Amino acid sequence: MGSLIKVLLVGSDGTLGTSLRHVSHAGFDIVPWTMKNCDLTDLASIGPKLSVESPAIIINASAFTDVDGAELNEQTATLINGDAVGQMASYCMAHGILLVHFSTDYVFSGDHAQAYAEQDVPDPINAYGRSKLKGEQLIKESGCQFICIRTSRLFGRASSTQGKKNFIEKMLELAHRTSTISVVDDERTSPTYADDLAVTTFDLIRSDARGIFHRTNDGECTWYEFAREIFSISKLPVTLVPVAGASFPRPAKRPAHSTLVSTKLSPLRNWKEPLREYLFTNTTTV
Ligand SMILES: NC(=O)c1ccc[n+]([C@@H]2O[C@H](COP(=O)([O-])OP(=O)(O)OC[C@H]3O[C@@H](n4cnc5c(N)ncnc54)[C@H](OP(=O)(O)O)[C@@H]3O)[C@@H](O)[C@H]2O)c1
Repeated sequence: MGSLIKVLLVGSDGTLGTSLRHVSHAGFDIVPWTMKNCDLTDLASIGPKLSVESPAIIINASAFTDVDGAELNEQTATLINGDAVGQMASYCMAHGILLVHFSTDYVFSGDHAQAYAEQDVPDPINAYGRSKLKGEQLIKESGCQFICIRTSRLFGRASSTQGKKNFIEKMLELAHRTSTISVVDDERTSPTYADDLAVTTFDLIRSDARGIFHRTNDGECTWYEFAREIFSISKLPVTLVPVAGASFPRPAKRPAHSTLVSTKLSPLRNWKEPLREYLFTNTTTV
């Protein structure tokens, strides 16, 4: 049996980080890093701490993911989603190792009629999107070998244990408190199951493919349509009311239609399939 390849997983306890630890990753020895191992806002500490760990690959699943929070604190969002990523990329370049990173549909404005392909030019409309784009740019400028996967609307097994609820958990919780729920019927994109994205991530690492990739589950929906499917599967008697995003004033603007398509990878299964799987395996409320 050959020796395992040491992979440093930054952000190991987040939604995607948890999936990356749980899906099959034969051949890789995953070393998990949380904020306790390295606070990414302390830029100067990143390089030295990476040198001590000395991984063969870095997977960065960490991020400042609070979209409205980023609008109110763009500096911190940019530090974590931009500058800290730049530090990791410089380390990877200097040591000739692969950096695997994740970005978002929010690097696009969302005013396209069609889905965005990898080659489309980013034009973010909010602070979170700008901070994530900076991370992408610093990776490219570093000259390191990289895989950068843009994804959207992640759901996965981690959130219940992290105290931070994902959209599905919030909907199920609301359904137990009220019989009528208003949900935004715009902001069209693709829900993505973190386990499916994690499997793709290891497939890409094993392949020779490098660069930017779009990876989401197939199909698209608004938040209202997402909620309708959640309640249809879970058979909860809820009256759903579709409303415009403007009815819920929030600090950050959201892209209207930010669905991603890949010109490099074949499509994943439709989002409704893993949603069903998720509801029957990850929640006790169905
Ligand atoms: N969630 C989505 O809908 C979505 C959509 C598109 C793209 N993405 C991208 O997908 C990737 C994974 O997202 P996710 O939803 O899995 O994120 P998440 O659940 O919010 O997890 C992010 C992780 O980053 C860590 N982190 C935050 N600030 C840190 C800091 N200063 N130092 C060290 N670690 C820090 C967090 O640690 P703590 O738990 O200790 O705070 C957490 O474990 C990100 O690149 C994100 O931008 C996500």
